[in-house]
Amino acid sequence: MRRTGPEIDALAAALRSSVRTVILTGAGVSAESGIPTFRDPQDGLWARYRAEDLATPEAFARDPRLVWQWYQWRREAIAAAKPNAAHLAIAALDRLLPGLALVTQNVDGLHQQAGSRSVLELHGNIHRNRCSRENRLIDMDARGTSKPPRCPSCGANIRPDVVWFGEPLPPQILAASQAAAANCDLLIAVGTSSMVLPAADLIALARSAGAGFAEVNPQETLVSSQADICLRMPAGEAFPAVLAALD
Ligand code: OAD
Repeated sequence: MRRTGPEIDALAAALRSSVRTVILTGAGVSAESGIPTFRDPQDGLWARYRAEDLATPEAFARDPRLVWQWYQWRREAIAAAKPNAAHLAIAALDRLLPGLALVTQNVDGLHQQAGSRSVLELHGNIHRNRCSRENRLIDMDARGTSKPPRCPSCGANIRPDVVWFGEPLPPQILAASQAAAANCDLLIAVGTSSMVLPAADLIALARSAGAGFAEVNPQETLVSSQADICLRMPAGEAFPAVLAALD
């Protein structure tokens, strides 16, 4: 069934008149691919695990094997997942709209798998590895390892190339995302609770520069009251419908 409605038409119209659009995605965009979000009260990763034990540099220094195994488990779940209708429709928008910038907090690589060409990954990518001391990327197949392999040049533990709590975001990617938000005329936040900074600050940055703001999320969030357009539905329903309304 093709979903229609005034909000879908409003977002399609906003996209049609936008020259520079930013789509900011969070864990909710991958929920329909079977990847758990972080803050869902039942199934969210942070409802089941303590971030302090698994997603901080201190946790990795204390118990590298535990942290590595948790990321290996997440990697396996992500490797089994496929892009969903939202990823595919966002990739189609990317081909259709030359002024689109896609910024994601997700580390799963599903936007790229769906065909989005240029993705600003604010929190890294779980498929990559890097040296925990030198920070340089290490190209290796880490499948099946139950403890962190050692860096071939310095012997330090290898870690996933993701941003942990308390760590800075990759500066060039953050700067490119901030520039895109400051210069856009429409920002669409999709599947994010907008609770984590500095990612959520991109919304304020865009709004203070005069951009329109749309939210796609089945639940209300901290920023919902600021939205000009709210699509209260799963991203996998919203984006194909918006794409169809654009045609
Ligand atoms: P959260 O788990 O905080 O929020 C996910 C949001 O997705 C919620 O607002 C849900 O209502 C919404 N959602 C659920 N299913 C959806 C669907 N099918 N379509 C659209 N929205 C849906 O995830 P993030 O906001 O991405 O950081 O979390 C931000 C950061 O916090 C993550 O990148 C991660 C985490 O700690 C790091 O690991 C550094």
